[in-house]
Amino acid sequence: MKSILKDRLGRPLRDLRISVTDRCNFRCRYCMPPEIFDKDYQFLPKKEILSFEEIAYLSRLFVKIAGVKKLRITGGEPLMRKDLPLLMKQLNEIDGIDDIAMTTNGSLLPRYAAELKEAGLHRVTISLDSLNDEKFRYINGRDIGVSQVLAGIDDALEHGMQVKVNMVVKRGMNDDDILPMARHFKETKAILRFIEYMDVGNTNGWKLDHVISKKEIFNMIHAEMPLEPVDPNYTGEVADRFKYKGSDHEIGIISSVTDAFCSTCSRARLSADGKLVTCLFASDGHDLRHILRSGATEEQLVSYIQSIWEKRDDRYSEERLKHTESQEFKKIEMSHIGG
Ligand code: GTP
Ligand code: 5AD
Ligand code: SF4
Ligand code: SF4
Repeated sequence: MKSILKDRLGRPLRDLRISVTDRCNFRCRYCMPPEIFDKDYQFLPKKEILSFEEIAYLSRLFVKIAGVKKLRITGGEPLMRKDLPLLMKQLNEIDGIDDIAMTTNGSLLPRYAAELKEAGLHRVTISLDSLNDEKFRYINGRDIGVSQVLAGIDDALEHGMQVKVNMVVKRGMNDDDILPMARHFKETKAILRFIEYMDVGNTNGWKLDHVISKKEIFNMIHAEMPLEPVDPNYTGEVADRFKYKGSDHEIGIISSVTDAFCSTCSRARLSADGKLVTCLFASDGHDLRHILRSGATEEQLVSYIQSIWEKRDDRYSEERLKHTESQEFKKIEMSHIGG
């Protein structure tokens, strides 16, 4: 029988988010600003990146140790990793995993959707911050048009995948896109979620003034398309769910800044180079790759992972204002651990 592993705040470990690469074909200005990531930024060399076998092995351990049931593949952009469908297949074969999802910018989905579906991927979350082509080309920093991402969304839907669309909302960047995005996705099968802009990493120049709150987003949409709340799908879900009155169509708002959800956070993150990260805002991770490659037994790895989780007391978003006052607080880049 599995013992129930809990951290210092009584939170179990249910959800493992696996970054498979720190590279991305986009340069979103709030995540990988081109002036920094195109200069002399050091991406991880191949030998430092976990192999598919290592990822599958560690995932099995997380199932065994903690009863993890849910995996999310992220990046950077996960589809930049060669042969990703092979990994999906391996993860799908793990007993105990009942949900695998992937976070992607969608631009490469037209090429890979069929293969991914065949490998057992049923759910994708696609980032899209604006339907205004000129603006989107600017935001993604690579002059990629909206139509390429919309094609990715269509392809995923056509292959029968459940699709969520994530829109990061930043004041002055895309607040005027909230309503056009809501109107557009109301007519599709995709579930749109608005994300309060967060102070992840060290490079995006975040300021509290940039954040458009959950309340503002709700009010804006509700005034034109009345909404009603929907119960969470599961304890600890990050999005507050709503549906449009008179329909079953759903939207969500993710409010890590104005209404943090750390008290139910059961997410662990594995970086592409094999570090176990216990909070999106951590300064560093715990090096599982080193232990794995130095020939540790399964028992040693299990006890190391357990001890990390048992010591965990992260609740950054609930304490955010305390941290942001001190400028020197170093955080892992979002492109190393996904969303
Ligand atoms: P499902 O419910 O499985 O569909 O996934 P999800 O709602 O967890 O979705 P997703 O992984 O797309 O998360 C959406 C966004 O929420 C991420 O891109 C982050 O911006 C934010 N987010 C997710 N997890 C956390 C977290 O643990 N802490 C904080 N502060 N933000 C998070
Ligand atoms: N604030 C909120 N969400 C962010 N993401 C990336 N950077 C930020 C940020 N600063 C989201 C993207 C994508 C996922 C990988 O993380 O929208 O959906
Ligand atoms: Fe790439 Fe996603 Fe970051 Fe944009 S938000 S640069 S798509 S990893
Ligand atoms: Fe979890 Fe850290 Fe996010 Fe809080 S800030 S919800 S502890 S990842």
